[in-house]
Formats: sequence, structure tokens, C-alpha cells
Amino acid sequence: MRANELVHLEQLNEEAYGRVVCYPRYSVEELRKRLKELRKLGVTAIEFSGKKVVSGLPALGKGCVGIVVTAYRRNEKVAMKIRRVDADRTRMQHEAEMLKKANTVSVGPCLLDVSDNFLIMKFIEGMLFPEWIHTLSGRGTKFRVQRVLRNVLEQSWRLDELGLDHGELSRAPKHIIADADGKPWIVDFESASVNRKVSNVTSTCHYLFIGSPIAKAIQTELGQLDRAKLIQALRNYKQNRTRESFETILKVCLLQTS
Ligand SMILES: Nc1ncnc2c1ncn2[C@@H]1O[C@H](COP(=O)(O)OP(=O)(O)OP(=O)(O)O)[C@@H](O)[C@H]1O
Ligand SMILES: [Mg+2]
Repeated sequence: MRANELVHLEQLNEEAYGRVVCYPRYSVEELRKRLKELRKLGVTAIEFSGKKVVSGLPALGKGCVGIVVTAYRRNEKVAMKIRRVDADRTRMQHEAEMLKKANTVSVGPCLLDVSDNFLIMKFIEGMLFPEWIHTLSGRGTKFRVQRVLRNVLEQSWRLDELGLDHGELSRAPKHIIADADGKPWIVDFESASVNRKVSNVTSTCHYLFIGSPIAKAIQTELGQLDRAKLIQALRNYKQNRTRESFETILKVCLLQTS
């Protein structure tokens, strides 16, 4: 893999970069079209960096629909999702609409712009949640973990209230970023929908407290959780989605007694 590289728009017409911009089927015509689109969006450069590898170059993410890279729009560092040439979506507008809606309740990175093949959002400087939790140690750790978890759950609640189902929160190791201030950000609204029954709170709880290796790490910090109580609280919430039933979940998850 090549090292981190900042590549200006004028150099992006080289095939090596084109293989990321037009992943996984590069063609000169497609690249030309996409570079024109980038110019219109005001993108001046792409930075190939991150822990994923796409066509031999580093990137932030690689999914079924998109490749996520760091980019610069004018002078601002942004995160940009590039539509894969073979994606089963023909445009990025659906994800943009979902993210924009989430933004109305202060969830998700702020949507900055969108075109058929690119979605541009605010760059979240931080770490994926599982990585973040493993970096913590010493005094105040429990408090910080509780604060992040409460915030993730409140965001999930707001999405439930909004009627927007994220769709991928039950297995979310790559969908929650904790920033430098320890604020969590939910990302990837590709599979989100306003036409499904919402299950953001219940999915988030399953991921964080029941069914993943991260649940163990969290309990190491917060203490043992009453699983049966949580399952009952989630069941109640599903049947009767009220603030009160949500707060019961919060209490069980954050191990608060009052
Ligand atoms: N706004 C952002 N700021 C910083 N990093 C981001 C941002 N959005 C996404 N990322 C990083 O990119 C990774 C992949 O993002 P995401 O899940 O949205 O795309 P994907 O999996 O590549 O595509 P898709 O699931 O739509 O096919 C995330 O796990 C995260 O590490
Ligand atoms: Mg994804």
C-alpha cells in the first residue's frame, strides 16, 4: 500500500487514483465525468489516508455502495463518500436526504453537498467507538463512557421520534465515531429509511449492551448489567414508545438506581 498522499484535482486523472474514484471498474470516460462533478462541487483535492485499502491506496471506508475518503472542498477538510461504479444505487441522493433529515435533530455529520456520485459531509476527527473505548484508562473513565453511551442513546431516541430508521445500528462497530471531546457521531445513512418501523434505540442497545464484544468492554467499565431487566425494558419500549419507557432503558443501561 502507498503512503498517505494529498492529490490535487488536476492530478486525479492518473489511472492509479482513478481506480479509487471509479472503484471497482475504472474507465477513462467515467473518471472524466466524475472529475467534472468534483470540480462543480468545489472539491480541490483528495487525501488518500485511512486504515482501509482501495485499489492499493489508503481510504477511510469501503462499503457495498461507497468508498469514503478525506477530501478538501475549497480549504475545508471534509469526508466524501464516492459512489461505487457497481453500487446498487444509481445516485447518492437517498443517503443525502436521510442524512439531512437526521441533521434536523442534530444527528450525523452535517451534510455539505451532494451530486450523483459524491456525498460531502463534515469531517469528524475521532476514532471508531470500539477503538475509542480501548484507549480510555484511569480516573474519570467510567464517567466518560457513561456520557458517550447516554449521548448515543439520546441520538437514537431522537431518530426514533423523527421516524427515521438508521438500519445498521445493531452491528455498529463502524457506524459510531467518538470525537476528541468524547462526543459520539452516528454515520452511514445509506441504509436509512423513513418507511420502516424505527428500531434505533433497540438496535443500539443490542449492539452496545447485549450482543457484541463491545458489550463486554462496556460492562468492564460500568459494571455488570441486568440483562433480563434490559430485555424487558426494550420489550416495553417496543410496545409503548414513550419518553418514560426510554428513560427506563437509560437507567438499566447506565446502571443508575435512582
Ligand atoms: N463524516 C465522517 N468523518 C470522518 N470519518 C468518516 C465520516 N463518515 C464516515 N467515516 C469513516 O468511513 C467509514 C465508512 O463510512 P460509511 O459506513 O458511511 O461508508 P461505507 O461503509 O464505505 O459505505 P456504504 O456502507 O454506504 O457502502 C466509517 O466507518 C468511518 O471510519
Ligand atoms: Mg457502511
